[in-house]
This record gives sequence, C-alpha cells and structure tokens, in this order.
Amino acid sequence: DWTMAEFRAAKIAEIREQVGTSKVICGLSGGVDSSVAALLIHEAIGDQLTCVFVDGGILRAGEAEQVVGLFRGYYNIPLVHVQAQDLFMDGLAGVTDPEAKRKFIGKTFIDVFEAEAKKIGGADFLAQGTLYPDVIESVSFTGGPSVTIKSHHNVGGLPERMNMKLVEPLRELFKDEVRVLGRELGLPDVFVGRHPFPGPGLAIRIPGEVTRERCDILRKADAIYLEEIRAAGLYDAIWQAFAVLLPVRTVGVMGDARTYDYVLALRAVTSVDGMTAQAFSFPGDFLPRVATRIINEVKGVNRVTYDYTSKPPGTIEWE
Ligand code: XMP
Repeated sequence: DWTMAEFRAAKIAEIREQVGTSKVICGLSGGVDSSVAALLIHEAIGDQLTCVFVDGGILRAGEAEQVVGLFRGYYNIPLVHVQAQDLFMDGLAGVTDPEAKRKFIGKTFIDVFEAEAKKIGGADFLAQGTLYPDVIESVSFTGGPSVTIKSHHNVGGLPERMNMKLVEPLRELFKDEVRVLGRELGLPDVFVGRHPFPGPGLAIRIPGEVTRERCDILRKADAIYLEEIRAAGLYDAIWQAFAVLLPVRTVGVMGDARTYDYVLALRAVTSVDGMTAQAFSFPGDFLPRVATRIINEVKGVNRVTYDYTSKPPGTIEWE
C-alpha cells in the first residue's frame, strides 16, 4: 500500500525530528497499537528506544510470553519485562469506581516507566500507541455533548504531572489503518489480527473491586472463551471478544450440592473502528457449550450470560 509506505516514511522523519538524540521509553500493552508504535519508533531511532512491558496482574493468560517472545525472540528488540503484580494489586484494593481504576493504573504505569527511565540514565520521551478514536473519545462522544465517557489512553488516563513528553505516532490512525501499517512493518499476521485489549486490562472487566482471586477466575474463563472462538474459526469475524466477571453471586446446583458463585458475562462485538459496535451472533450451540465448559472448569463461576448490548447505547467494555 503506497499511502501507508509514505505514512511510514513521513512518521519516521517526524519521530527523528521530535526526539533528536534523546532516549524514548515505549510501554507495550500486548495489543496491536503499542506493538506497531514500538516497531515504527525502533525503525526511526534504533536503540535510543527501550520497550517496557509491565505485568500488573491484569493481563490475559499467556500475554506476557507472547509479547516477550515477539520482541526479544522475533524482532530482537530489547524489552524490559517488569513484574509489578504487588504494586498494582495492592493499589487496586478497595477501588471500585471505573475512572478511579483507570487513574490509578495510568499513574502506576507512569511510575514504573519513570523508574525504568531512571535506570537507563533518563528518558525525555514516553511513546504510546494512542489512536484517533482514543483521542476523540477521551474528549467527547460522537455527536454528543462534550463529556468524558472514559479517560481512554493506552495506559488508561495519564497523570497531570509527568516528566516525559509524549510520542504518539499513531494519533491520526484508525485501527484498520494501524493493521495495514503493522503488516507493512512485517508484524506477523497473528499479531496484526489480534483483538484490541485495553491498557487497564482485566481491571476494567471486573466491575467493583479488583482482587487477585477475581483476576485469576476471569483469566481462566476468558482463555476458555477465546480458545473456543478460535477453534470454531470465528476469531477473525469478531472485532473483540472477552469475558467480564460480575461481583455478584447467584445460587446454583452442581451434583447434589448447592453452589453460590460469581456470574460471568460473555461479550463479542463486530465493529469497524470501535466507535460503534453490534453484538456478535454466534451459531446456536456455541454459547451453551462455552458456558458449560466454563462452569465445569473454572472454580468460582456457576452462571454464564451473554451481553447483547450495542454501542451506543452501551460501550464495548463494561467500565
Ligand atoms: P469502549 O468500551 O469505550 O471501547 O466502547 C472502545 C475500544 O477502546 C478500548 N478501550 C480502551 N483502550 N485504554 C485503552 O487502551 C482504555 O482505558 C480503554 N477503554 C476502552 C476497548 O477495549 C475498545 O476496543
């Protein structure tokens, strides 16, 4: 695609111009956007870039291995893998408000990035894979009054005071364009085609308080759901699919025993750019099969529901 080739060349020049000889930290989330941003910036400034991947305990199953494997193994781009589960989980204790979660997570990511920057003698810039829809939705909602729907940012709402300046080379792009650019940069198809995953991760898929136990339950259920979607050959037909763990217990019966466990909601949507979305229609026997597997295999869940809400009036994520 010649337009994307031109965009790539222009952005590389722009990044060099903006950054000069300074160092840049790029936070990787495991999603397509931050991966593409990192590849583009690496092409522009090589080892002035340090990629940082933070595991705060809010990632999906296998995510860390995949990202570390891609960057260190496939691209040979150095990557710092920070284990920060305690920091995130301790700070999330007692936090139930969605925006408060985003603010805490955003601030904590920045704290970790700044600590990593210090270790390499300081970095003047922080790179993020912010897209055009993130920019607009943080400011106002299409056609509506100017209110913040969600403080979207790749890290989920940046603190007001930050020592690093931002490098956001994808700010003008929509998701489908980022995928074209990713292909242009040689990103493997499995990565290019990945469903979007929000910076605040599983934390915004657990309404109410986020705990280690709840993250573990959600991670297991989500992995089963996605495994079944892939096995059914439906992954690429869906924009985004994920499970949400509700902080509500209901009564069930398993064998001869009464259970009193969490409710899980499954969500799958089709969309072009994430700005609007429709619930995905699964073939008839798919959801009952997934529900049965999750209830049998994931301790702590005894009821599974499906979310049919469109965006608008819903949003894709539950928080
Ligand atoms: P919503 O829920 O607003 O989501 O309909 C639209 C798209 O954005 C993703 N999303 C986020 N991405 N940080 C991110 O990096 C966030 O705080 C955030 N909130 C939502 C969401 O997964 C969907 O693809």
